Amino acid sequence: MGKTKLAFVADIHYYSPRLGTEGRAYELRSGSDQKCLAESGAVVDAAFGLLKNSDIDALVISGDVSNDGERVSHEEIREKFLDFQKAKPLYLITSTHDWCTDGNPRRFEGDKVYNDVEAFDGPTLDAYYAGFGKENCIAEFETSRGFHSRCFQVSDSLRLLAVNDDADGPGGKSGYSEAHLCWMEEQIKAAKAAGMDVIATEHHLLLPNVSPLINKGQSIGDQYEVAARLADAGLRLMFVGHSHFQRTSEFLSPAGNKITQVNIGSLCGYPAPINYLTVENGRAALRVEFLQGFTHNGKAYGADFFKEHSSAVLLNLLNAAAADKQDLKDRLAAQGIRVKAIDKLYFLIRHFARKALKITVGGAGRLVNFFTFGRGVNKKAVKAHKKEKLLPWILEIFLCIFDGSYLAADMPDTVKTVAVDVSTLPRRIVKELPIKKAKKEKLYKTFAQIEALLRELVYPAYDNMNCEIDL
Ligand SMILES: [Fe+2]
Ligand SMILES: [Fe+2]
Repeated sequence: MGKTKLAFVADIHYYSPRLGTEGRAYELRSGSDQKCLAESGAVVDAAFGLLKNSDIDALVISGDVSNDGERVSHEEIREKFLDFQKAKPLYLITSTHDWCTDGNPRRFEGDKVYNDVEAFDGPTLDAYYAGFGKENCIAEFETSRGFHSRCFQVSDSLRLLAVNDDADGPGGKSGYSEAHLCWMEEQIKAAKAAGMDVIATEHHLLLPNVSPLINKGQSIGDQYEVAARLADAGLRLMFVGHSHFQRTSEFLSPAGNKITQVNIGSLCGYPAPINYLTVENGRAALRVEFLQGFTHNGKAYGADFFKEHSSAVLLNLLNAAAADKQDLKDRLAAQGIRVKAIDKLYFLIRHFARKALKITVGGAGRLVNFFTFGRGVNKKAVKAHKKEKLLPWILEIFLCIFDGSYLAADMPDTVKTVAVDVSTLPRRIVKELPIKKAKKEKLYKTFAQIEALLRELVYPAYDNMNCEIDL
């Protein structure tokens, strides 16, 4: 069988500059988001320019093509898709951010936010993108919401199942009706019977990853049942988007069939990943690369732009907490968080924020060990970094959520030891607290999850940048 090479990207969230890219309201919106908005068009142009001139056979986009379903964003990004299609085939699915936006489409002017932005509804959206890949579509299924899932013959030897899971699952959750799932099973089996390799893409997660604390609600309904049925039908590889995290996970059905999920990070957020998949003789090889830069308004930006923009979500909050109560309130509100107690507690918040901005690894280690009688953090590990500021390490570990722990590969072992040691503290403290057993167990479970999250970030279970899968 021949070789097929595909590129996958996800969660472009293209934002039309006509929605406003200046002023306090835009700054608050942009500063509260891991992905970039004003620069999204330039990022797409850079990625598409690269891919058009690469050796890929086709590009696949796994949903959330627009920022928040704004008509103007859809119109502009579709032009870019049509232009790309002149060079290479493009297959795409849309998802909830492209239509089901709960009145969220907004524009920004000065310090004002306006909601008078026209957005697409489901049927309009479905028809708007129906033409992409049509000539290679060999089967189609209409979901309970009027969207279409499609099976594409992308090469002589490979089929792609591109399915729309929007609100089609149990109780209107993302997922699949029984009829939809049966159709998917049929397509997988038919591809296998025809001697083809088959892979799939959906938008929401088939398998949770990183930590249930972060992305418990991001998966499709009845996820393990669906994963088992797809694996038992013969599907071995599913690409998903939505979480904006680059991460690979595996699941084994009760019948012993394995399925691998590749969660593609957001193209317009750190680390701006492009997932390359080469399929040959029943074997798929994944290689993840990060976009190294783009040009916006005549200015060149490197890969560090994405890193800094994502870090700013945390840094802006911390700086505001340390210096300006109103700024802190505005920034939290921009993230949809309204905390009434801020006025009363601000003196405390400011104190801790100022400490957090300044504290060294040595200072933090001494503090923790003081409260734990010297048993909290490995003293040797702390000593290795005692004069370094703690904050850059916290930011690097935070970024590992998005980059599949790419940064962790270069992190000193001593830093990993300190991070994991510190994460065990809440659990150890709860163990000693004189509170009711049920409450203690609940808290203990949450803190154990925090600990598992830290471990996963610094010691990832998989190599999220490279893997090989038997299809
Ligand atoms: Fe998204
Ligand atoms: Fe999404």
